Amino acid sequence: MCGIFGIALSSDAALGAILRRALERLEYRGYDSAGIAVVSSGSLVVRKDVGKVADVARRHGFDSVRGRTGVAHTRWATHGKPSQANAHPHTDCAGRIAVVHNGIIENYEELKAELAAKGHVFTSETDTEVFAHLMEEYEREGLSPWDAFRKAVSRIRGAYALAVVDLGEPDKVFFARNLSPLIVGVGDGYNVVASDIPTILDHTKNALPLRDGEYGYISPAGVYIERDGVAVSISGRVQQVPWSAEQALRGGYPHFMLKEIHEQPEALSSTIAGLEPRRLAEAAEMLLNARRIYVLGAGTSYYAGLVFQLGLTSYKLLAYPIIASEYATYEGVFDSDDVAIAVSQSGETIDTIKAARAVKERGAKVIAITNVVASTLARESDYVLYTRAGPEIGVAATKTFTTQVALLTALHIAVGRALGIDVSAEESSLKRLPDVVRRAIELNEGSAKALAEDVASSKNAYYLSRGLGMPVALEGALKLKEIAYIHAEAYPAGESKHGPIALVEEKFPVVFVFSDPSAKEKLLNNVAEMRARDALLIGVVPKGDDLTKKLKYVFEVPNMDPMTNAASFVVPLQLLAYYTAVRLGRDPDKPRNLAKTVTVE
Ligand code: M6R
Repeated sequence: MCGIFGIALSSDAALGAILRRALERLEYRGYDSAGIAVVSSGSLVVRKDVGKVADVARRHGFDSVRGRTGVAHTRWATHGKPSQANAHPHTDCAGRIAVVHNGIIENYEELKAELAAKGHVFTSETDTEVFAHLMEEYEREGLSPWDAFRKAVSRIRGAYALAVVDLGEPDKVFFARNLSPLIVGVGDGYNVVASDIPTILDHTKNALPLRDGEYGYISPAGVYIERDGVAVSISGRVQQVPWSAEQALRGGYPHFMLKEIHEQPEALSSTIAGLEPRRLAEAAEMLLNARRIYVLGAGTSYYAGLVFQLGLTSYKLLAYPIIASEYATYEGVFDSDDVAIAVSQSGETIDTIKAARAVKERGAKVIAITNVVASTLARESDYVLYTRAGPEIGVAATKTFTTQVALLTALHIAVGRALGIDVSAEESSLKRLPDVVRRAIELNEGSAKALAEDVASSKNAYYLSRGLGMPVALEGALKLKEIAYIHAEAYPAGESKHGPIALVEEKFPVVFVFSDPSAKEKLLNNVAEMRARDALLIGVVPKGDDLTKKLKYVFEVPNMDPMTNAASFVVPLQLLAYYTAVRLGRDPDKPRNLAKTVTVE
C-alpha cells in the first residue's frame, strides 16, 4: 500500500525535483510519510520524514538535491507507526545502500535476528530495513552489489516491490517484484521503475509490467531482468500505454475525485466504444457453460459485481457473490466446472488476486474485469475484459465503478443474446449511458452541494433500496463513509425494520434509491415509515416521476433499465459525498487510513 519509484539517468540532473514529482503522483497509494535517496557525487543523500509529500519535500529541500540515480517512497504504514525513522528509504549500517519497498517481508523478524547477531544495527521498526542489511552482509562476504541484491531477494518471503540504490554500482537501480505491482518505464537514455503506470507516464509511454518472481536492474543504457537466476527476454513485453500524462493530472479541478466524477461520460464512451462483441460472446459462453458462477471483488468493485449478479436473475440464472477477502470459506466449494468473474479496477487488490488464484487452483476459470492492462489479475486470469476509464487517482472509486457497471451490463446483454432473449432495450440504454450520466451531473451537482450542508451536520445516514437499487445504495453509503467520515449504512429497505430503524429520529438522513422500478411500490411504504419518524427524506428518483413530491430532497436522473440505472443513479450520491467531505474540510482524494489499492491481506 505504498508507492515506490526509481530512476537511472545518464547525466546529473535535478533528481530531487524529479523524485518529488513522482511521489506527488504516487501519493494516493499512501501518505503518512515520504522520502528519497539519491546517489550524488559519490555519496548517498537520504531525506525523509512524516507528512504529506509536498510538506516533507519542502522541509527537507528535495528540489535542491542533484544526482543521476535515485529512489523514492510514499508510505502507508504496515509495520511501525508513521515516524521519521520508519519512513523509507531504509539504509544499511554504512549508509551506502538505500531501499524502498511496498509490501510485507513476512520473514523479517527471523532475518533481523540473524543480522543483529552479526552486528547489524537497526534504526527502524520496519520489515523493509532488513533488506538493506542483508545486502550489506552479502557485500561484506565479498559479493558484488548485484549479486548481493540477488541473494538478498532469494532470502525474503512475502509481498514486495523493491527498488534499491547502492553506491557500489551507482548507475543502477535494482528492483524485484512479488505480489506487489511494479512497472518498468523504458526510456531513451534513461529508465524508470514505479508502482503504477501514471507515474511512468511523466517519463515515457513504454511500459513493461513485471511479473511475480522477477528481479533485475535498470541503468541509463537498458533494462535487465532475471527469474530464478536465468535472464528473461523482454522482447515483445514492452507495451505502449494509451493514456496521456495530462489524463493523470487534475485538469483544473480542486480534487481528482471531482475531476473523475466529471470524466464519467467520457470514460463510459471509451469503455462502450472499446467493447468487443466477439470477446463478450466468448465470455458469455464460458458463463453459460459453467456449473456455478461466482462474482468476486472488494469494496466498490464488489458492488459493481453485485449489479451483474442481480442482473442475471432476470435470465433465471443464479450466481454467487463472494467478498474476495472471504474466499477461504468457499474454497472447498470451487470446482473445475465453475467460472468466477473477478472485478478489480486496479487488478492488484491482493484479496481479489488470492480469491481468483484459489478458484484457479481448483481448476475453475476466471474472467477478469479490470481497468489496468497487464495488471496481475489480468495476467493470471483465463479471460480479461477491460474497462477503459483511464487512470483513477482519487482513492474513492467513481468512474471505475460506472465503467465496471457498463462493461458488466454489456456482458449481461451478451449472455441474454446467447440465450435468445430480446436485449434491445438494454442495448439502447447502454448506448445512452454516457449522455445520461452527463445529464445526471448537470441536473444534480448544485443540489448535491446544497444538501451537503445538511448532511455534513449529521453523524449517521441510511441508504435504503431494493433489488438492483441495492448495489447503488451500498456504493452511495461507502462513498459518504470513506471520504466524509460520516457513519453511513446501506440496507435492503425491508430489512431496515428488523433493527436499523431504531436509530432513526428527527432529521436522520435516509437516502432512498429508486433505480429499480419493480421496487417502487414497496419502497414507498418504507419512505412512509421513515417520514413517520421525521427522518430527513432524500431520494434518487427517475426524472419526471411523481416521487419528487414524496421526499424532501430529490436527485433526478433520466430513467433507463435497472442495470444501466445502477451506473447513473449513483452519480448524485458520488457528488453528495464529495461536497459533504469538502464542506467538512476533509481531503476527498486522500481519506484517512485508506489507500487506493489494498496490496496486503
Ligand atoms: O482496485 P480494486 O477495484 O480491486 O479495489 C477494490 C476496493 O479496494 C475499492 O473498490 C475501494 O472500495 C474503493 N476505492 C472505495 O471507493
